[in-house]
Amino acid sequence: MSHNSLLGNILPRIPGISRGKNAGWKDKYQPYAEAGWDVVANISILPSPQVTLSLADAAAIKEVTASRIRFPKPVWRYGVLSFWGDNIVASEAEEWKRYRKVAAPAFSDKNNKLIWDETLRIMFDLFDDVWGSEESISVENALSLTFAIALYVLSAAAFGQRISWKDEDTVPENHQLSFKVALSEVSTNCLTKIIVPSWAMGFNAHTRKVRLAFDELESYMLDMISSRRNTEKKAERHDLFSSLLNASVKDPTFTDRDLMGNIFIFLLAGHETTAHSLCFTFALLALYPEQQELLFQHIKSVLPDGRMPTYEDIPLLTYSMAVLNETMRLFPPATSIPKYSAEDTSITITNAAGEKRVVPIPQRTEIELNIVGMHYNPHHWKDPEEFRPGRFLEPDWPRDAFIPFSAGPRACIGRKFSETEGIAVLTSLILKYKIEILEEPQFVNESFRERKARVLATKQVLTLAPARLPLTFKRR
Ligand code: HEM
Repeated sequence: MSHNSLLGNILPRIPGISRGKNAGWKDKYQPYAEAGWDVVANISILPSPQVTLSLADAAAIKEVTASRIRFPKPVWRYGVLSFWGDNIVASEAEEWKRYRKVAAPAFSDKNNKLIWDETLRIMFDLFDDVWGSEESISVENALSLTFAIALYVLSAAAFGQRISWKDEDTVPENHQLSFKVALSEVSTNCLTKIIVPSWAMGFNAHTRKVRLAFDELESYMLDMISSRRNTEKKAERHDLFSSLLNASVKDPTFTDRDLMGNIFIFLLAGHETTAHSLCFTFALLALYPEQQELLFQHIKSVLPDGRMPTYEDIPLLTYSMAVLNETMRLFPPATSIPKYSAEDTSITITNAAGEKRVVPIPQRTEIELNIVGMHYNPHHWKDPEEFRPGRFLEPDWPRDAFIPFSAGPRACIGRKFSETEGIAVLTSLILKYKIEILEEPQFVNESFRERKARVLATKQVLTLAPARLPLTFKRR
């Protein structure tokens, strides 16, 4: 998510200087295997000479994430995310505490229930109104499907605005875009807004369109703030926006701008990540039909009477959760997390032979928590390249070696949000449809290996994404 990592993704591999485009993702555990230790030092010269300690060791990563004061966030790397006001992701210390305190109660059980209900509503609308009586539905790229699902869920559960598949794009009198279009354009084009300076946003049709969408979403949010502040009798609402608004009333230092910056960051942090991980989940289940069948049989065993799942079933839907976890182990949307040392300190690391070594860390050393490196670390995961959801059903699976949502006090506040949504999407879909790779004439002769490489090919947007996933959904 950081600006520097964008730069790092562009540079070619230069020994000793740059690890090369998407290095962390491509190399996985390789650099640590070569070093013989689960920590390596990376040297870069751009934008200025810098040594970064890169960690793939569960105990060391746990120590760093647990010690927020000793290893804070390098907030200067996140500044680009603050164009809509300061926010919970891009802040540290007292400011972050204040945002987290206001935001945390919004991610409540009542909000989770809302997420569950809205996700099922969106899925059934898809099955009934869009796919209808079709026996087989093919999509050129399933990412557009998971992008829409995640956007509609966020719209309802974060903004309190229901949008549906067949919504007429009605534009209210004082607006130029509908809420659906404004939200969708903003979320799809965050990168443009992050990279292009505001004075250059009027230069071409694309940036002007993005600027309009941002202006429109801002104006919708201001409307929402004033209408909810002015409603005499407040209806009980559990969307994040309403909860944040209520909580902010108790903290007079929390301005409308704070509210907008923070609700916007939920969109940025929650949309792509969830859409990409759902898409990778579909890809893996399509590639491994035997795993899909195990998932289907498990769901049927939880719901033997053919009924639809309810919120209370979530703890029983363990196989759905295991499939989502195994997907995020193999394809973590955030491939690494930056930290730095606020003081001269040290951490202890261990090698394969169990030897321990204390690594001294001078003040202001940049640290990379290499999520991919750790998720493919054979000391923590047996046959790490294999898609094996069952490993998450074993009682002693290595919890500290699984951090797609980070860990410690700065861990993802939206984890439950995303898991609730993921379980609802996956369970409702698998109950009704079989997921297969779309058969395309140009690929009839490919081997399984080639097919796997093709459909699991990735690209880096703000987070790790499938390059193109063509799928067919066949009604069961
Ligand atoms: C699969 C889905 C998701 C993944 C993999 C994910 C991953 C992460 C990670 C790795 C972090 C730490 C980032 C850092 O240290 O810079 C984080 C933080 C955060 N995430 Fe998520 N996230 C997901 C979904 C969501 C959702 C749905 C929301 C909100 C609706 C959300 C809101 C946030 C916020 C606000 C933070 C900052 C928390 C803080 O610093 O106190 N995330 N997420």
